Amino acid sequence: MNFNTLKITPHLAESLTQELFNIRGKAAPLPGYIDFNFKINRDDGEGYILKISRPDENQEYLDFQQKLLQYVGKKGRNLISPRVMLDTKGNSIAWFTDDTGNRRMVRLLTWVSGRIWSVVNPQLDDLRFSLGEQCGKLTRALQGFDHPQAHREFEWDIATSLWTTPHLDLFDEKERRILGSFQNDFKKTQGAYAALRKAVVHNDANDNNLIVSEEQIHPTVKAAIDYGDAIYTQIINDLAIACTYAIMGHNAPLEAALPIIKGYHSEFPLEERELEHLYNAIAMRLVISVTKSAISKHEEPDNAYLLVSEKPAWEVLGKWYGVHADFAHYSFRQACGLIPHPHETEFKNWSGQNEFRLSGLFPTVDKNEAYPLDLGVSSQWLGMQADFDDLDLFQFKIDRLQKKHPNKIPAGGYLEPRTVYTTSEYGRIGNSGPENRSIHLGLDFWLPAGTAVNALFDGEVVTSVNDAGDKEYGGLIILKHKTKTFDFFTLYGHLSVASIQKKEVGHSIKKGENIGYLGHPEENGNWAPHLHFQVMLSMLGYATDFPGVGYFNQIEVWKSVCPDPNLLFKSISLRPHKATSNNQLIEYRKQHLGKSLSLQYEVPIKMVRGAGQYLIDQYGRKYLDTVNNVAHVGHEHPAVVKAGQEQMALLNTNSRYLHDNINALAKELLETLPPKLSVLHFVNSGSEANELAIRMVKAVTGERDIIASEIGYHGNTNMCVDISSYKFDGKGGKGAPEHTHIFPLPDAFRGKYRGENTGDQYAGEVQLQIDAIHSKGRGVGALIIEPIISCGGQIELPDGFLAKAYEHVRAAGGLCISDEVQVGCGRVGKFFWGFQLHNVVPDIVTIGKPLGNGHPLAAVACTQEVAEKFANGMEYFNTFGGNPVSCAIGAEVLRTVKRENLQEHALQIGEFLKSGLKSLAKDFPIIGDVRGQGLFLGFELVDAEMNPLGTKADYLANRMKDQGILMSTDGPDHNVLKIKPPMVFSHDNAEELLFYLRKVFREDFMRRY
Ligand SMILES: Cc1ncc(COP(=O)(O)O)c(C=O)c1O
Repeated sequence: MNFNTLKITPHLAESLTQELFNIRGKAAPLPGYIDFNFKINRDDGEGYILKISRPDENQEYLDFQQKLLQYVGKKGRNLISPRVMLDTKGNSIAWFTDDTGNRRMVRLLTWVSGRIWSVVNPQLDDLRFSLGEQCGKLTRALQGFDHPQAHREFEWDIATSLWTTPHLDLFDEKERRILGSFQNDFKKTQGAYAALRKAVVHNDANDNNLIVSEEQIHPTVKAAIDYGDAIYTQIINDLAIACTYAIMGHNAPLEAALPIIKGYHSEFPLEERELEHLYNAIAMRLVISVTKSAISKHEEPDNAYLLVSEKPAWEVLGKWYGVHADFAHYSFRQACGLIPHPHETEFKNWSGQNEFRLSGLFPTVDKNEAYPLDLGVSSQWLGMQADFDDLDLFQFKIDRLQKKHPNKIPAGGYLEPRTVYTTSEYGRIGNSGPENRSIHLGLDFWLPAGTAVNALFDGEVVTSVNDAGDKEYGGLIILKHKTKTFDFFTLYGHLSVASIQKKEVGHSIKKGENIGYLGHPEENGNWAPHLHFQVMLSMLGYATDFPGVGYFNQIEVWKSVCPDPNLLFKSISLRPHKATSNNQLIEYRKQHLGKSLSLQYEVPIKMVRGAGQYLIDQYGRKYLDTVNNVAHVGHEHPAVVKAGQEQMALLNTNSRYLHDNINALAKELLETLPPKLSVLHFVNSGSEANELAIRMVKAVTGERDIIASEIGYHGNTNMCVDISSYKFDGKGGKGAPEHTHIFPLPDAFRGKYRGENTGDQYAGEVQLQIDAIHSKGRGVGALIIEPIISCGGQIELPDGFLAKAYEHVRAAGGLCISDEVQVGCGRVGKFFWGFQLHNVVPDIVTIGKPLGNGHPLAAVACTQEVAEKFANGMEYFNTFGGNPVSCAIGAEVLRTVKRENLQEHALQIGEFLKSGLKSLAKDFPIIGDVRGQGLFLGFELVDAEMNPLGTKADYLANRMKDQGILMSTDGPDHNVLKIKPPMVFSHDNAEELLFYLRKVFREDFMRRY
């Protein structure tokens, strides 16, 4: 039939709506696969969808659609769905005759407002949960409905998906292997599958059939539309289809599916036997999809669209094939609140009734007690990664422990979150950024190489391999055991290679028989000798390996598949310890710590370990730190830690005794400063440094009037708050005190003077403050300012400003203080100190955060002249300032900056990152300005009228955190993201940061402002 003769014009659509339904409105054409569809907008804003059939359409089928919608409308409490509008004669289907004399059916449905699923970004767990809920509600509402058309033959019905089998020849060998394997599995389970619950279900919750609410943060699925594929089939198929489409485009499809299943189950409880078929049902829907594409491609080889549309299906199919069906099944059970492994309880009961002793496992050791050894992420015993990687040191520590506790075996580690697994084998990119396998699934027994290991129960060897490679198992044996009602497995890792050579797969082992011997580091994956002993209730398809460490987000499933081996031994020392929950920590803080101490992020994090540019939380999740300039040379830099530890073990006193360390630190520091700044005082914090600087100003000039920048921050003491506009002009502040004089923030982007060449104008503002002080009959004490204003929003001072301002202040008899607490020690890249960017030499420089790399250490550098005048007879004593431990640490920090060329590194990486941010700004105009020097950068979010977008900045920081990247906001409007990472931040880290920023900038909330 000629399409042009069938086509309906909007004008005709409008008159049909009026004539048949008595509704006036404007018609806009919508895409439709078979029907001709129009959106009808009534003048009062109500919307409808008009559907006009083709002449040959089956009336019975449309009757099914209408009845189904009417049924859902009646039964679905709180369920939004398109409602059927009756025509003026009271019919749900109206008729008209077109120009060529064809009878056509016309239907009118109410319009469900919102956006379609496919345009929503990001699609997070809570949205997918609501998708499941919506589908579950719909299935519930459809209970009891039936219609002859629901029993039609339908290619998209998973129940009939084996029609795809004869089409395997359309695929290449690799594709055939994947498809064939799913088809075979589906064939094998037909008996049980056929017996599952059936009903009429929607059967097509794909990403264009779901309407999502308009909220940009936490949107929910409002309704499913287009009931054209509804069919009477296994209920589980409906959930499978919802999962199939919503997991596309996710790196970890299983994790993406779980919230959907949870949501569905919360509205329409699923049966255990249904969950057994879900994995394969999802696969078979994908098999149908790629087979249909392949058939169409065969028929229309030049249709490029077909190639594009099948790509996501193939991508997810490949990933789904990589998920083991049993692991998926246990995960689905867990999502539905069931015990993940169906045999977990049986194993617990069985092991409860049987008694096993450690000496049964290690017959030559003759010890039945364990000494709990914590190798977890927060273990102090473990120390730094470098200590752990030093096998001799680690073995020495084990031996010492063993000597101290001669009757016990050092052991432990079940479900311990660890960070010692550092090779790439232990990581992946999950749905929310990089993830590491960190949860240890077995028990480790730290015993010498050569220790014999015996079987605790009869078994059969199912794995005997040399799992060679760094941080692998080395010699590995897995035994299978049978009880009356279930099978289970035990794993023995880190054996000698000779052990596995003696044990072939299939070999039976009797209780009490030798399995093998513990291996040396060269053959056991480079570990100190130990046995990794693990229990498994399933092999999950592994034959030559089995994970000994799992991802934290799968822990509930792993701990069911791999139950606690201590269920066998029942040793009190090997019981997993219960950690304090984050909520308990928060509650305690609320009650006993000052309310003005804030916590970062909507969901606060508990960090327990630092390593270079990373912070690691209590679950072993690694976060890339882009904000902590205190950890200047890297969190817990081994050389700095060692310097502190060694000196702390020796002596810590005060600066009234002679000590080499204070002189050594002074020397390291003076090497970096201009010769004029040749005298140092050591203190404990940036605030103390600025406090002392102002004391010096008063002693030297006799004046107490201080000029400072708007939104400047200089510390938390009384005096420092008095000169910090960021505080006294902010929440809870009472404005500038009498002796503080604030000039406008020298911000060339959104400040009082904008654009290039504003240096003189802002210096003029400093002069105005000098004049104001003079007009009160007083003199100028000092100007204090950072060389890049941090809390003000990473504001780079305009060219020429600082030199001019210094000139004005000095002409008025005042001193110039450069607050380098944030930017100092090589961070700005081109120079060691920020003031050097402006070609000036201050009278006083205050140094803080980076100097101690986390240890409280700060300093004040000043000229001989200032120092002389300050020493007016009153002693400056500081109990902790300049103590030998602090000085050992400070000197090592400065040596590390020099030794590791971190200043040059900051310049290089900073320039790469800055140019990357600038190209990001071209694609996302919300980034109004990118600024800063070296690894002290910032970017500002504004709308087209230059209004600050603080809520966007906050959202961005929180979303970046979700993906494992720590960022934070600043500036008076909190719309500036600051980037000032530990200086070991690498090129790869910068690329990763840019990648995830781009990803979040594409999200709906960041695009609408
Ligand atoms: C520029 C500046 N000066 C001084 C301080 C105060 O340092 P502290 O917190 O070590 O007392 C800070 C702290 O953030 C700062 O940013």
